[in-house]
Formats: sequence, structure tokens, C-alpha cells
Amino acid sequence: MLRNDDQLAQWDRDNFFHPSTHLGQHARGETPTRIIATASGVHIEDRDGAKFLDAFAGLYCVNAGYGRTEIADAIADQAHKLAYYHSYVGHGTEASVTLAKMIMDRAPAHMSKVYFGLSGSDANETNIKLIWYYNNILGRPQKKKIISRWRGYHGSGVMTGSMTGLSVFHNKFDLPLNNILHTDAPYYFRRENRDQTELEFSAQCAARLEALILAEGADTIAAFIGEPVLGTGGIVPPPQGYWAAIQEVLQRHDILLVADEVVTGFGRLGSMFGADHYDMKPDFMTIAKGLTSAYAPLSGSIISDRVWQVLARGTDENGPIGHGWTYSAHPICAAAGVANLKLIEDLNLIENAKTVGAYLNASMKQALGDHAHVGEVRGEGLLCAVELVEDKANTAFYDPSRKIGPAIAAAMLERGVIARAMPQGDILGFAPPFCLTKAEVDTVVGVTQAAVKAVLG
Ligand SMILES: Cc1ncc(COP(=O)(O)O)c(C=O)c1O
Repeated sequence: MLRNDDQLAQWDRDNFFHPSTHLGQHARGETPTRIIATASGVHIEDRDGAKFLDAFAGLYCVNAGYGRTEIADAIADQAHKLAYYHSYVGHGTEASVTLAKMIMDRAPAHMSKVYFGLSGSDANETNIKLIWYYNNILGRPQKKKIISRWRGYHGSGVMTGSMTGLSVFHNKFDLPLNNILHTDAPYYFRRENRDQTELEFSAQCAARLEALILAEGADTIAAFIGEPVLGTGGIVPPPQGYWAAIQEVLQRHDILLVADEVVTGFGRLGSMFGADHYDMKPDFMTIAKGLTSAYAPLSGSIISDRVWQVLARGTDENGPIGHGWTYSAHPICAAAGVANLKLIEDLNLIENAKTVGAYLNASMKQALGDHAHVGEVRGEGLLCAVELVEDKANTAFYDPSRKIGPAIAAAMLERGVIARAMPQGDILGFAPPFCLTKAEVDTVVGVTQAAVKAVLG
């Protein structure tokens, strides 16, 4: 599995700049080159034939599962028929127009159009540009700041990395930029006041958001962005009443809501969108990962009718919108999206995410909830997290330098299951493909339990 002594590993060290990687260690060969060769269902296999149950679906994106011939065939057919044409100046392809229709048929009724990009990051960049454009057309050029949450994840570009509320994405990059502000993470488990109820904590998050808005001046705040369930920041479902309280504040100050549905979109919570799941009424929805189950890179910004009307007016006044990528609505990616959404529905995979997700969360709680160093097992749909603590009674966390989360994830890998050590805190994340079975849940939970025991006793 870990070969550092062959030509491919050498080529890797010499040529390949890997994202989210310790560059120095990797180039020196101190960390392994992992070359994944094939995959099927929920399993991936490396070039030496070692097999792993991928309980994080790549980067929580291979929702339909690996090896789906229906999606692969759609990609191949599209490549043969028409590998590329652009979507500028009203052009489209059968695949891109069909996919837009499929997305809007599934989006909340007040949403109007979808703009296609390639990654979650670029879709969020699109959202910001459109928000600024919107406020300029409305004659309020000062209303431009964006509020996101600490621990939110929205990408790693210049603006999106600024909105991301995790220090590793800021440090030494001169981020965040000035016009991006951060407010409290909706992280009830890490609340300061241990006596607070969830509802009280949600009210406090909303009150602090409003205090920030008032301190800056509501006429300077354009939008608030949040993931329906905080993802990379720790897999944290919102506390009771959170989205209702936040939306009330936003409405009061005429601030747009961006629901970043890159993880939650297309079924991960057991609902089509997080917005449906938590009764959110966003102006923008960011989609990516689950749109194609990562068979091809594709993202989207879904825009509400009220925003669309203003954008359309803007082009009446100023000419065509000055925004676009060469690969927007790429037909091969769109064909993958059409086949993926169809497959997910044909196989009833969203329902499976709901029932198997409930089983995963219940089983994980039962197996690990009472462990002396497991502070919380939490989740929603087919998302689950196990958060480790040094002292359970006082909710005291481990010193990050001890790397407890990564050590447990490594112990799980040795036992054939991939979980993700989330980047901030000692948190094991689970977000498997939707086709996971209950028997596979038992494997994941058993291996997690064994690895926690091996590392922490
Ligand atoms: C909620 C959320 N938004 C945006 C992104 C960025 O997507 P990408 O990595 O495709 O740029 C991610 C990636 O994990 C994400 O989880």
C-alpha cells in the first residue's frame, strides 16, 4: 500500500503539488504516496490491491457510489457526440439545458435559475460577484460586506478562502480580506455557557450576528453565507431553532442568505436540499459535489427569483453580464449530472441515505457514546461525527499537537476503513456514499470502535 521506492512514487514527489498536503514532508518522501487504482460501490482499491471501505465518499462527494456504469456511459456518449461547446451568449447543449431543468425542478419553488461552474469554490466566487452586482443595480454600492461563520467552509480561493472560517486557510495567505466578517459557529457542543439550552444558544448566535450587523451598519452588509450543516468545520448539525433565528435577523436588515449546499445538496441529509430540511429560504444556493457524484467537476449557483429580476434589470441597463468561465456548463459534466440525478432517484438513494444514515448515527452513538474520551457523537442524514475530548466531564479538548483525530483515522485505515480527521479539532468525520448498507455500517462502526480503543484505550 505504501510504496515510496518505485518510479511512480518518485515522479509524484518530484512533480506533483498536492492540495492540502504537508509539502516539505511529502517531497522528501516522509509521507506515503497513495495511488488509488479502482473503485466499486463503497470500496476503493489501491494499485497493490489493498481495499478500503470509503466512509467519506472521497471528499463527501461520490454520493451515488463508485463504478456506476450509467454515469460513465453518459460521459463517454457525450464525449463522442460533442465533447465541448461553450455556454456564452445564449449557447447550450442538450445536456446542460436538461440538467438546468432537472435542478430547478428539484430546487425550492422561489428559486429561478442556475449558473454553472466547476467547483464549490468558483460557485461561491460567482455568488459574491452577483451579490455585489445586485446591490449596485439597486443603487446601494456601500452594501457589500459578507458575513460567514467561524468554522464555515466555502472554498479556498481568495474570496472563498476568506469566507472559510478555519485558520489553516487564512494563515500566511493574508486572508481573510477586509470585507469578509465572521460570526459565531453554531456549535452547541463547544458553547461557552454549559447551562444554555439549544434554543438559548441559537438565540445567542442570532443576537451576536445582529450585534455585528449593527456595529458595522446594516447598510454595509450584503449577505450571510452558511452551510445548512456545518461541514469541514466539524460536521455540526445546527442547534434547535438556529436557522429560524438567523433568518429573522437577516430579513430585518435586508441581508441576502447564501445556503452553501455543496455537501448537503442532492440528498446527503435525507432531503433533496438542506434548505428543505431546515426550512431555509435562501437567495443563493451553492451546489457542487453531489450534483455529479464527482464523476465530473461541476458546480452551480442557484439564484432566487427576487435576485434574478434585479440581475436581468442590470443587463437591460448595462448590457450582457460580465461573468463566465470557458467550462461553464461543460457538456461532459452536465451529462454526468443528468445521469447521476436520474440514478439517485431510480435507486431511491436519498431514502437510503436517510434510513442508513439514521442507523449509522444510532449505531455509532451506541458503540462509542459512553467512551471516556468521546465527547459527542452527532450527525444528520448520512453525515456523522465523533468528537474526542481529553476530559469528558469538563469538555476539555486535547492539545492539537497530539493529533489524536489523525492517529485514530490512521488506525482505522490500517483496519480497512477511511474516515476523515476533520482539520480543526479531534473530530472523525463520516459521509459515505448513499448506497451504503447496514452491514457496511456495522463494519464502519466496529472499526471506529477498535481504532478509538487502540489509540485511547
Ligand atoms: C460547503 C462547501 N462549500 C464549498 C466547498 C468548496 O468546493 P470545492 O472544493 O469544489 O472548491 C466545499 C468543499 O468541500 C464545501 O464543503
